[in-house]
Amino acid sequence: MTPDKIPAKPASRPDKVSMWRHMRMFREDIFSSQPAKLYRAWMAEFRTPFFRSFMINQPDLIKKVLKDRPDDFPKSKVVQESLETLLGNSVFVTNGEVWKRQRRIIDPAFEGGRLKETFGPMLVCGQAALERLRTEVGSGQIVEMEAHTAHAAADVIFRTLFSMPITDDVATEVFSQFREYQRTQPLLNLASFIPLPKWMPRFRNRQTTKTSAAIRALIGKITEQRMQEIAAGTAPDDLATKIMTTPDPVTGDVFDTEEMIDQVAIFFLAGHETSASALAWSLYLLAFDPAVQERMFQEVAKVFGKGSPTFPQVNQLKFTKAVFRETMRLYPPVPGMIRSNLKPEKFRDRDLPPGCQVLLSPWHLHRHERLWDNPHGFDPDRWTTANGKKCMREAYIPFSAGPRVCTGSGFAMIEGPLLLAMMVREFRFELVEGRDPVPVAHLTLRAKDGIHLKLTPRGGGV
Ligand code: HEM
Repeated sequence: MTPDKIPAKPASRPDKVSMWRHMRMFREDIFSSQPAKLYRAWMAEFRTPFFRSFMINQPDLIKKVLKDRPDDFPKSKVVQESLETLLGNSVFVTNGEVWKRQRRIIDPAFEGGRLKETFGPMLVCGQAALERLRTEVGSGQIVEMEAHTAHAAADVIFRTLFSMPITDDVATEVFSQFREYQRTQPLLNLASFIPLPKWMPRFRNRQTTKTSAAIRALIGKITEQRMQEIAAGTAPDDLATKIMTTPDPVTGDVFDTEEMIDQVAIFFLAGHETSASALAWSLYLLAFDPAVQERMFQEVAKVFGKGSPTFPQVNQLKFTKAVFRETMRLYPPVPGMIRSNLKPEKFRDRDLPPGCQVLLSPWHLHRHERLWDNPHGFDPDRWTTANGKKCMREAYIPFSAGPRVCTGSGFAMIEGPLLLAMMVREFRFELVEGRDPVPVAHLTLRAKDGIHLKLTPRGGGV
């Protein structure tokens, strides 16, 4: 660890600014519009003439919302409205019985035993990512890593879900349309989910709507083709086939094509954006702390040797996993979540009338100065300390918690450490002077101008 330095953190705003200035800053960038005192607050209220929102940072309140009474705190409607052109009625945005049915069908595909089968495709994606990096490093050593990790993570989703490499024409087209979607969706940051007053015109970029339709049409094509393969008995045994052939244990029905398109859209969005973010920030942190990178390299070299990694070996990468976990503490790929209270609630000394926005901020919780030792420092060894263990249980929610916990958490904890280890075995990563990344809260945590690192081949990798 570098004790006298902390890794990239956005500057906080002064304590007092006018409401209008705050609102403007808030919609531009939710992090730098917050005062530093939020890293010490248990709860904060954003009160404007139009809406009331409460950010909760207190472990027992978060437990109440996510684990104890999740049915009383459904996903806020504003999340659904913002994403509906792309996600339709996907499991990410639905509530109540519809959501419960969707999880009953999806969850079995992600159970521990099945995950072992996703390892092979993940490994192939890791090898393809290394090949792309080799080519780029050959022509210049400074590489923007977010683009590479996004490519690799999208490849993982296509291959595990539909047994399709990203070089397949349709997969390439979906991936490039997703990139276009993000480019033309400038307001897809967390703050855009806070409701606008009813009289204010809604911003819905025409291009974004068009791109969403294009993505859904392409996904529809793959899904329909898979339906036919299942009917003909020729479908490969991958995640899509598993999900499309699993009947709901309560009603006995399966997803129809339209419902499956909704789910596939969220798997692509939730599955590749998040993993890409976690991987890119991990590489940044390793470059930030060369001693940690060297320790991780030693572990990877010992566990993988020079051969092709195997599934049981990933479990032995204890330090690599600690690095990945620590990255998701400092740079949670999903930096904020929004719920809404159905009933009147009393949180600390405040009364919440029904319908408030309840904000959970992994970004602030994971750096809470009253909970964590060395809250803004990079320390992968913290997980073995008493404070680290306690905070892991009570104040660490990169995958959320409770019944709505991320379906892909087990998947991501194999994919992330595997790809990270493969990259570190082959390259040394260094910071580039004057190009420190600036975290910004989009739907996933991104770096404002990407993550630029200097790569040097170590030689002797696979
Ligand atoms: C490092 C990687 C990942 C992180 C940090 C992550 C994090 C999260 C978080 C925080 C949520 C809850 C969001 C909320 O309640 O508003 C979520 C939900 C979800 N994630 Fe992930 N995720 C990751 C990877 C994946 C992957 C690989 C998949 C699928 C292949 C996936 C599929 C989903 C789905 C379907 C949901 C919605 C669950 C529901 O609402 O019931 N995620 N994820």
